[in-house]
Amino acid sequence: MNGVNGVPPGGHAAVYPGSFDPLTVGHLDVIERAAQIFDRVLVAVVVNPQKREPLFTLDEREMMIREAIAHVPNVEVAHFRGLLADFVRSLGANVIVKGLRVVSDFESEMSTALMNRSLSGVDTCFLPSDPRWSFVSSTLVKEVYNLGGDVTEYVPPSVLRLMRAKRQTTH
Ligand code: PNS
Repeated sequence: MNGVNGVPPGGHAAVYPGSFDPLTVGHLDVIERAAQIFDRVLVAVVVNPQKREPLFTLDEREMMIREAIAHVPNVEVAHFRGLLADFVRSLGANVIVKGLRVVSDFESEMSTALMNRSLSGVDTCFLPSDPRWSFVSSTLVKEVYNLGGDVTEYVPPSVLRLMRAKRQTTH
């Protein structure tokens, strides 16, 4: 997204931020639904996730998302470092989108949303996760996969391919 070019006057450009390490079917569902609500959606991959060293490089995370969202015309992928509030302000985006899976998500996301609004003036729109995927997280997907479990249901095919390729190069 180059600023909010391409957004009609009065239109809405949304930023959907995350680590996406890896992208899950829950993330993809939120992206597809956000794309129906907003004129443009920018999936914003954080360069350095705060939790720990990512399994996938930034390039890999961006590539897997691009492949998975290729069928959705008004979605783009970019990355950011530093404060999300600064990034959304620099774009002139209207809204931040976040998925909510469970009540504990709400507790942490609420204060984050209020801080982001205080810093940038940009509000956060929460989309309830599809109940089919409310238990799916990138962390659990990686743990199940590393222990030999089948994660086919929980990640898009592009992600599964990358996970398999990574396993082959790291074993
Ligand atoms: O997929 P995740 O790991 O839940 O995504 C978390 C993310 C990237 C949205 C969050 O860590 C973030 O916004 N990081 C940027 C740093 C920042 O702005 N921190 C202050 C938040 S109020």
